[in-house]
Amino acid sequence: MAGDGTEILIDEKGKRTDGRNLDQMRPISIKVGILKNADGSAEIRMGRNIIIAAVYGPRELHPKHRALPDRALIQCFYRMSTFSVGDRKSPAPSRREREISSIIANALNSVAFVEAYPRTTIDVYLQVLQADGGTRCASLTAASIALADAGIPMKGLIAGVAGGLINDTAVLDLNNIEDQKGSGDVPVGYSPTLDEISLLQLDGVFTIEQFEETLKLSLKGCTDIHKIQKEALKAKYIKIRDEVSVEVENLVGKTEIKEDIKEDIKEQDAKLTESTIKEDKEKKVEEPPLKAPKPVPEESKKEKVPEESKENPIQEPSKEGEDKTEVV
Ligand code: CDP
Repeated sequence: MAGDGTEILIDEKGKRTDGRNLDQMRPISIKVGILKNADGSAEIRMGRNIIIAAVYGPRELHPKHRALPDRALIQCFYRMSTFSVGDRKSPAPSRREREISSIIANALNSVAFVEAYPRTTIDVYLQVLQADGGTRCASLTAASIALADAGIPMKGLIAGVAGGLINDTAVLDLNNIEDQKGSGDVPVGYSPTLDEISLLQLDGVFTIEQFEETLKLSLKGCTDIHKIQKEALKAKYIKIRDEVSVEVENLVGKTEIKEDIKEDIKEQDAKLTESTIKEDKEKKVEEPPLKAPKPVPEESKKEKVPEESKENPIQEPSKEGEDKTEVV
């Protein structure tokens, strides 16, 4: 089957250009908290798409007159890197990029408790490093995770994926060739927790039945992505818990060492005290036992002055060479 009649997008076995089944998504991996300088961040890889989301805020909004008195303003900046597509992409923000930024911001507004942060801004930067179709949906998935990572209270996470039509067949998660050559696409943002659709676009011509079938596929895809989002968030906190427990173990180890040192000090103290007591005992043995002082006879109370001193009470210092006479 070919979207425009020239390209085979679905072969006779029902396989797509990249070997997927009609209802199969591309492999997805999500990492949370990849940027140290952002308040929240995530990286999503969906097939060949590589997108980074960074959240800053809630923070003061400039210019202040744009601030909303009763809630935070979520601002999204979806940008494709110049090297993200085959042809060099101009670094200037295109109309498409501004439109995608706006629809992602609207979707996030519906799940974040923006009323908790009046007069502030929450800035969500989405950088597409490599694009291969479905980048707005993948960006929304990553943005939602990054918001949660930034600690913004949320009613639920939003997962995004685009369903589409290749000729008359509904398929899930269009890649770039399918997007360009297929007959239409339906990007969807859905929160399984709230059972709410927060993003829905349609490009192409669908019968109601085809639209419903495509939407059903997309919602099923979002529900699967939502599980991966939760696992990714959990993985971050499990990693933190493991790191903390290692640190605690190290600390406990150090405490044990300290305890060892304390034990040594106690032992040394005990030895020292023991030897001091022993020395004291020995000294006491050498010392004559204390006796009551004898009564001094009246005569001996008079100071005995040597005859020499009586004659010459002031003692001249002895000259060098002379015999030193000891005065008793
Ligand atoms: O990416 P998404 O499907 O959400 O948006 P799109 O406008 O339908 O673009 C489909 C794909 O076209 C993108 O994912 C890119 O792979 C490609 N594209 C491109 O090659 N050059 C651009 N300036 C814009 C998009």
